[in-house]
Amino acid sequence: MKDPKIILAIESSCDETSAAIVQNTPEGVKILSNIVASSADLQAKYGGVVPEQAARAQLESVIPVIKEALKEAQISQEQIDAIAVTQGPGLIGSLLIGVETAKVLSLVWQKPLVPVNHLLGHFYANWINTGRSEDQKIRRSERSEVPEFPCLGLLVSGGHTDLVLFENHGKYKYLGGTRDDAAGEAFDKTARLLGLPYPGGPIISKLAQTGNPKAFQLPRPMIDSKDFDFSFSGLKTAVYNLVQKIRIPEDQNIRNPILRFSDIPISPKLSDLCASIEEAIVDVIVKKTVAAAQKYNIEQIIVAGGVAANQRLSEKLTKSAKIGVARAQIFIPPPKLCTDNAAYIGAAAFFNYRSEDPLKIQANPNLSLDNHTLQP
Ligand code: KG4
Ligand code: ZN
Repeated sequence: MKDPKIILAIESSCDETSAAIVQNTPEGVKILSNIVASSADLQAKYGGVVPEQAARAQLESVIPVIKEALKEAQISQEQIDAIAVTQGPGLIGSLLIGVETAKVLSLVWQKPLVPVNHLLGHFYANWINTGRSEDQKIRRSERSEVPEFPCLGLLVSGGHTDLVLFENHGKYKYLGGTRDDAAGEAFDKTARLLGLPYPGGPIISKLAQTGNPKAFQLPRPMIDSKDFDFSFSGLKTAVYNLVQKIRIPEDQNIRNPILRFSDIPISPKLSDLCASIEEAIVDVIVKKTVAAAQKYNIEQIIVAGGVAANQRLSEKLTKSAKIGVARAQIFIPPPKLCTDNAAYIGAAAFFNYRSEDPLKIQANPNLSLDNHTLQP
């Protein structure tokens, strides 16, 4: 089948189990349903994702989530043209649940199965037409409804920080990425050092709103390097050292839950610290992204991944791209499409359609963007 109109998509790469029904229409990809079950609350208790627990939660949720997606979209199995599933990268136990479920459904329902790279999938949240006026405001300029090629892709998620040059659908060049922690990981790990719960990004970002981003001088690793690589582990170390200095002496255990900042004699504000951390992470991402757009003379930048939901990143990137790259247009999906969900996996499948023998598809925890540099 060449042009599927309705796809059932399944995403299970980490601690979210998601199923979506998406439709390819002349107005773009539309979401008929997009159900997300998260075990993040469970993971929060342990300060991060415990792979074994995440996989068990996937197993419990996968069938109910698929049923709910079909019900909400009011679509029967006969109306589905193809099934799309996240093949990797991710946690192997989590990935296996989605991939094996999709394989069984593909074989039993006799539907083509499309494996999707999760990282590539994130970018396709930018091709989804949500049709809601408030979401349209996210489009920083009205020049184009959906991204056009060539465009620069910035992926900032919990596990990845990558810059990719897209020449077309499925045709892209990897420019660089993080050498250690990902941007989301930098938020999560520094939040943990502050005694804040997982995931750290949303809470740091919330507290940062009332803080002074210049209150603490934190490093911006590799900000001036000529390549498009990133490094965030030095920032984590700097925050660790800072927290040791301002911590009350008897409270030395960094794994201790909530730090009571009001008890700290020097009394630095938690919001100031959060604002300084957020600013350091955002500054590096923005500078590298704008530099890449300038180097390749790119007019459109598409942002993807959980950290794309960060308001400060959106503000600074929009501002800088206007100054640095006169005509750059920034695309950022609405927050609920930035974090892991199956709708973008379905959208990616429409534009990169290639069904494979279900029995030959294997979950691949190490799938990357750089080993798919050029696809036909
Ligand atoms: O893309 P995602 O849902 O999962 C991966 O594929 O990794 O990204 C999750 C990451 C977490 O690290 C989380 O802290 C971060 O996205 N995140 C944010 C925000 N919302 C989620 N980081 C900064 N600001 C936010 N508003
Ligand atoms: Zn993701």
